[in-house]
Amino acid sequence: MTSSWLLHTDSDRIAWLVCDTPGASTNVLSAQVLADLDAALSQVAELRPKGVVLRSGKPNGFIAGADIKEFVSIRTPDQGYALVRAGQCVLDRLQDLPCPSVAAVHGFVLGGGLELALACRYRVGADDDRLSLGLPEVMLGIHPGFGGTVRSVQVVGARTALDLMLQGRPLKGARALSVGLIDALVPPADLEQRAKQLLQQAPAPRTARVVDKFLNLAPVRPFIARRIAGTLRRKVRREHYPAPYAILDLWRRYGASPRHGYEAEARSISALMATPTSRNLVRVFLLQDRLKGLGGGGREFDRLHVIGAGVMGGDIAAWAALRGMTVTLQDRSEELVRPALDRAKVFFGKRLKDPQASAQAYARLRTDVEGAGVATADVVIEAIVESIEPKRALYAEIEPKMKPGALLATNTSSIEIETLAKNLRDPGRLVGIHFFNPVAQMQLVEIVSGAGTHAQVAHDALLFARRLDKLPLPCRSAPGFVVNRILMPYINEAIFALEAGVPADAIDAAGTRFGMPMGPLELADVVGLDVCLHVGRVLAEAFQRPVPAVLASLVEQKKWGRKNGAGFYVWREGKPVRGAQPGAAPDDLEDRLILPMLNEAVAALRAGVVADADLLDAGAVFGTGFAPFRGGPLHYAKTRGIAEVTQRLGELELRHGARFRADPGWASVSV
Ligand code: NAI
Repeated sequence: MTSSWLLHTDSDRIAWLVCDTPGASTNVLSAQVLADLDAALSQVAELRPKGVVLRSGKPNGFIAGADIKEFVSIRTPDQGYALVRAGQCVLDRLQDLPCPSVAAVHGFVLGGGLELALACRYRVGADDDRLSLGLPEVMLGIHPGFGGTVRSVQVVGARTALDLMLQGRPLKGARALSVGLIDALVPPADLEQRAKQLLQQAPAPRTARVVDKFLNLAPVRPFIARRIAGTLRRKVRREHYPAPYAILDLWRRYGASPRHGYEAEARSISALMATPTSRNLVRVFLLQDRLKGLGGGGREFDRLHVIGAGVMGGDIAAWAALRGMTVTLQDRSEELVRPALDRAKVFFGKRLKDPQASAQAYARLRTDVEGAGVATADVVIEAIVESIEPKRALYAEIEPKMKPGALLATNTSSIEIETLAKNLRDPGRLVGIHFFNPVAQMQLVEIVSGAGTHAQVAHDALLFARRLDKLPLPCRSAPGFVVNRILMPYINEAIFALEAGVPADAIDAAGTRFGMPMGPLELADVVGLDVCLHVGRVLAEAFQRPVPAVLASLVEQKKWGRKNGAGFYVWREGKPVRGAQPGAAPDDLEDRLILPMLNEAVAALRAGVVADADLLDAGAVFGTGFAPFRGGPLHYAKTRGIAEVTQRLGELELRHGARFRADPGWASVSV
């Protein structure tokens, strides 16, 4: 079998080890790639070169991390320990080579890839905007396992290393250079030459600064660790996300000592790998991969025309321009487009930082009141008022002007595609591309097919969503589609509890205690109570559900939530004003909020709104923020036990009413 590492020696007796995993577009550090590296290092040792350069043969980067698919097969801590220890030994061999080594890196240098680079004596990076170095393991509920918790602290000091590991956010080239993660940053064309130069000049290897060495002393560490733990506790709960706490514990106890640090790291990561949190986060990562893969295949989309420059249309247009598309934006007058352009300018400035890139993005976005862009657009998105007649009238006007094969999409959040498509010449042409608010932050878009939507059109819509770097969720046109359908019962139930006298803070605390990113009342305020009421009414009509009276009355009083400063909460500087203590909550509150979401997920699955349970879970996690460490609502129900969940629903039904009745679909949920 061909090795993942190709070895050759040049005329200066420098050995070149090039990672180029056969048959893959990206290098990952699988057990096989590590075993191949081990074998290659034996050959290097025999060759006795003056130095060794590690490179990648893939255009997209050095090494993107461990092979996450391998994690799924690890069932016990012992299996994890064996895998990690084997990897650590290979990296130790690299570090212990008698000759100097340098990692010459470009693109992705993540997780195990960065750990490998850290085991080299030097690191040099190819300076472009794709260079990205990081230790994102915490996102999968683990931490570095190939010596990274030790070597990162040794090289860049505890503060930077802990930041890298706890945040999981990668660094760009300039920042990586300034914190000392790389020794040099050079134009991509000079990478190999600079790597060789480092070997020949052999400067002293980089270590943490004096102040960081002081902070790493055993008597000092507990003070710093306590402070960081305080910050951590405000962000994540240990029982939900144990990994960041484990990272801190490792450092506090061992201070990156090579004597104990590697063994402790291996023990800690193998325990974490077996936790439900990590297994579920890996699951969510793979679900995300699946959604990304749905948009495979090659159709180009260069021009987008958006009609309706309001909250959604304006932000969709800006996002597409940011992603390199040429965008025309139409509304009924120039004045109505202006606020969207102003918002876009600020957004580009924040997002792109570089003024030139920001000006270019802005230049790609043009006002088009006449609608001239319709004729040349590859995609037309309608985002006008949520009302059937104006939307139909608009389609009648634009359909004859559109290019053959161009996508016609609506951003409707509550009208069925069949209803809107009725008077089109080709009703199969219309597809829903349902973005969420705020567009820039919400990764998910629902790709909604009506009964008559052509399969090719739905597929093209998936491709378009990927072109915009969004996660597409294919679903069928049905009230609330997927995300709003699952989310509304959570919000409604919170309002019913409030009506029954449970304090708002206690309700929200129950939601976040379960692991939701936001309590349901705060969420309703953020979404907008007018929007909640509208969606709530659509679902109420479709599924004979009650709409909480308080919601309608707040909307009547023009209390719309965060956007106008008052809703369930009074909002100050973008934050809800809360009491000092959440107040007392009834025992069943958490289930009362969460189980209706599970029940609705089962109902949606039974109705065939999505093709399978995994897609439903993906929609809930990426669209509603359903606690990722629980793996999605259906996965959570299976973990907790279907019998227990349905029994609990029965109890809640007795106590609170028929809206808790277990959906008949539970009988066919496969365990
Ligand atoms: P909006 O009221 O902020 O903006 C609508 C814009 O469309 C206005 O600027 C209006 O002047 C313009 N418009 C109306 N008729 C027009 C026509 N015939 N030609 C050109 N422009 C016209 O509305 P928003 O919130 O942006 O919603 C737009 C669509 O997106 C709706 O279908 C809504 O259901 C959907 N949506 C809204 C979300 C939200 O959170 N606001 C979330 C997801 C979808």
